[in-house]
Amino acid sequence: MGVMDSSRYAAYPAVEIAERTWPDKRIDAAPVWCSIDLRDGNQALPVPMSVEEKIEMFRLLVDIGFREIEVGFPSASAVEYRFVRKLIEEDMIPDGVTIQVLTQAREHLIRRTFESLEGVRNAVVHLYNSTSTVQRDVVFGKSRGEIRDIAVQGTKLVRELRDASGNRGIRFQYSPESFTGTELDYALDVCHAVMDAWGASATEKIIINLPSTVEMSTPNIFADRIEWFCRTIRQRDAVIISVHTHNDRGTAVASAELAVMAGADRVEGALFGNGERSGNLDIVTMALNLHTQGVDPGLDLSGLSRISEVYSNCTRMTVHSRHPYAGELVYTAFSGSHQDAINKGMKAYETSRNALWNVPYLPIDPKDVGCSYTAIVRINSQSGKGGIAYVLESAFGYQIPKWMQPDFGAVVQALVDENGRELLPREIHDSFHREYVRAQVGPFVLRRCHISWEDEEPPAGDQESTLITATLVREGRELPFSAKGNGPVDAFVKGLGTQTGLRFSVDEYAEHAIGHTADSEAVAYVRIETPEGRKSIGAGIDSNISLASIKAVLSAVNRL
Ligand code: KIV
Ligand code: ZN
Repeated sequence: MGVMDSSRYAAYPAVEIAERTWPDKRIDAAPVWCSIDLRDGNQALPVPMSVEEKIEMFRLLVDIGFREIEVGFPSASAVEYRFVRKLIEEDMIPDGVTIQVLTQAREHLIRRTFESLEGVRNAVVHLYNSTSTVQRDVVFGKSRGEIRDIAVQGTKLVRELRDASGNRGIRFQYSPESFTGTELDYALDVCHAVMDAWGASATEKIIINLPSTVEMSTPNIFADRIEWFCRTIRQRDAVIISVHTHNDRGTAVASAELAVMAGADRVEGALFGNGERSGNLDIVTMALNLHTQGVDPGLDLSGLSRISEVYSNCTRMTVHSRHPYAGELVYTAFSGSHQDAINKGMKAYETSRNALWNVPYLPIDPKDVGCSYTAIVRINSQSGKGGIAYVLESAFGYQIPKWMQPDFGAVVQALVDENGRELLPREIHDSFHREYVRAQVGPFVLRRCHISWEDEEPPAGDQESTLITATLVREGRELPFSAKGNGPVDAFVKGLGTQTGLRFSVDEYAEHAIGHTADSEAVAYVRIETPEGRKSIGAGIDSNISLASIKAVLSAVNRL
């Protein structure tokens, strides 16, 4: 093992901020969202998207409801340029949607960016330069003043070209890149200079985007920086404060959420957190976090599996099976106690008049994002009897009674152990049939059975007025009998006892219909007990409930 020397790292500085207010804030409205899937997300892909893939992704983002979409870095590559031109020339940008394009603060790149925007209705030109201490010193070897100057000159050129285009639909965004590595007062100083160069006003707002280009601190410190910035900036009403969080510490979502509490108006991020290194803010998670707090995120994520399919096709990235809200396993409970609680919670939710979702272990109704309830419980070695019963009921309609659940639980566990893997609902169904229903195939087989009543109607009380005439077969030998009882089961048990000498009583019984139509089948469950105390359970299925009960008794006898 190597030695991890933590003394090589310095703690991130705290922010001097008196009476911070963000900890007491709640997010009660969605921020303005800007998707950066086609830019930051794309630039971080091992194989960047083709123009066709970018178009597919753009359409998806529009369908989800993004009104601001950063579509690329058109001055950086021919594909990016062609894509922007195609969007504009083929009129693919719906009304109400603004595209955003990124450029470095360098003259020829800014000019090329404007060429790519020729004819656009609404766009944001996003200018950035790195302001961090380490980049100033090590990468550029420039002073604070020189770095500020790059931002100011770039801004002036954007302003000049925007004015020359006569297109008021082109807005301006500036990012002090590596904001998290930049001294706060200096970042503000650069932004003030940029605002002045642009001539920002309440009617001509500028977007100041504060990126955690590298996530370097706990989210509370990022929030402190944002609150300090929002409080200290001049002309707050002339600025839209945007954040763009990266996920190096795994807290991009938390950082963006706290930043909104701290005053940010706008949030940039990507589907499933795609982006440089460990990614950008995952907009899906942040939006659905809002949804689960009763706040409309303003994005339609109801088709999450389609969204993740298009995302995977276009980016060649996968959505992790544990990914919040979207992962294949996130609406699945393996442990028995979770399954039982979900089962009870679902039933209580369905029968209560309370519209508020409140089901244990499920922070969101899976239906909201297009997932189905049947996918919730899967059976493995950790599963309990409640979960197994839930699968049988939700997927196949069998309401196996409580007294049967431990017995069937043991059957399923044995099967899991034998297979050494999780079972599918169909396999659980088949094992139920094999164990309890098909037990009618021997050693006793029902060949004939006729049920009649002395009166025209089946008897109401416990008079012995039900007559059974039946023939069983055992090892090829016919065993005919007739017997009376207070019902078909009673008569059958008595006749069987007389003919075979088997003594037992029925100590538990349950029945129900499967389905809701006239030709629905009935299922009966019985538990019998011998005088020595041996118990056995059987189930029977038939369109006639009396026959279903008799078959269930026979199954139980055969399983003894
Ligand atoms: O992470 C970052 O700083 C960026 C900027 C270009 C906004 O992506
Ligand atoms: Zn970024």
